[in-house]
Amino acid sequence: MSWNARALRRAFLEFFQEKGHRLLPSDSLVPKDPSLLFTSAGMVQFKPYFLGAAQPPAPRVTTVQKCLRTTDIDAVGDLSHLTFFEMLGNFSFGDYFKREAILWAWEFLTERLQVDPSRLQFTVFEEDDEAFDIWHREVGIEANRIWRLGEKTNFWPANAISEGPNGPCGPCSEIFYDTRIDTGCQNPACGPACDCGRWLEIWNLVFMQYERTEENGKPKLIPLPKKNIDTGMGLERTAAVLMELESPYETDVFLPILRRIETLAGVRYKGQADEKSDAAIRLIADHIRAATFSIADGVIPQNEGRGYVLRRLIRRAITRGLRILHLEKPFLADLVPAVVEALGDQYPEIVQRQSYIETTLRFEEERFRQTLQAGLTRLEEMLQSLPPNAVLPGDRAFTLYDTYGFPLELTREMAAERGI
Ligand code: ALA
Repeated sequence: MSWNARALRRAFLEFFQEKGHRLLPSDSLVPKDPSLLFTSAGMVQFKPYFLGAAQPPAPRVTTVQKCLRTTDIDAVGDLSHLTFFEMLGNFSFGDYFKREAILWAWEFLTERLQVDPSRLQFTVFEEDDEAFDIWHREVGIEANRIWRLGEKTNFWPANAISEGPNGPCGPCSEIFYDTRIDTGCQNPACGPACDCGRWLEIWNLVFMQYERTEENGKPKLIPLPKKNIDTGMGLERTAAVLMELESPYETDVFLPILRRIETLAGVRYKGQADEKSDAAIRLIADHIRAATFSIADGVIPQNEGRGYVLRRLIRRAITRGLRILHLEKPFLADLVPAVVEALGDQYPEIVQRQSYIETTLRFEEERFRQTLQAGLTRLEEMLQSLPPNAVLPGDRAFTLYDTYGFPLELTREMAAERGI
């Protein structure tokens, strides 16, 4: 079988429907949960079901959820981090639990997707003997390929026991793929816990069995009336694994966007020795997907809250385009048809709102380019007044940011170019 992201999406949802799950639509990127700016995981829309506060439409459901996370925004441009991504998930609301979740994950990966089992390793929460035993005894994984780790990696949400937030939570088991990339790692215990870049997390199985609360300021885990399952598989990453590609950016849910950026900028991705240009192409491709979907779900560029996240994504993409790819004219709206080509079959909202999305981006880009120009002139003056190796005072960088909306990273970059 030759895979791509579309085929993986379909295969996942079909597999779990065969296992009795009801297919539900992706929720909006703007969640009903007021504690979150954006939908960051498949489980967000299901929190009330986990807590027993509302009745789920079915005991088992499966979804592909559009997600936005900006926690790793500064890493975007590398080969694996994304802000906007699709999460495949299967969920149980008081129905099946650990055993089925683990056995089905194994079956889906090794039988349906035909992933080489010898390239998979697993983590479990350090106290979770039950999950360890299922992987070891029932699936037959050697004990040295199952790693017991702490709450930072193996509790969902991360560090939920000690730090919160309050709400549904539980231990988790993550599945890692050995990319076999030679990272030159010297760690004799190199495995999923190592951050050398060799191990790619592809699926997280969460055993949602507690509600975290606080009593006299101390965290307390109360067992939920019913035990639940929440899983999340990264669509783009896993597709890249199946397609044996270097990164998600070369899969079908990105490729039309990459091609369009190449055409507009007159460069080829991986066509020149310049890694900076490839990183800029990746960053713009990521940010335009995030911006398109946010606007489709009703977010507008603003100076605070989720509107500010959107504005920041747009500005970062424009700046990179201008500085690295020399895209002198507005280009973001011209990328939207490529986003629609890559994702419109799955998400009709971006097809229906395409012209509104383009107009919003065009307006925002034109406005920003004006202030950007003013900021550039101002920064130029500031830099010229300083000798080499000087330090640009923080209050000046702040003025540029505050008055001209001039991104701090751009100030840093331009100053550094002159040794300032
Ligand atoms: N909620 C879990 C995650 O996002 C599955 O990793």
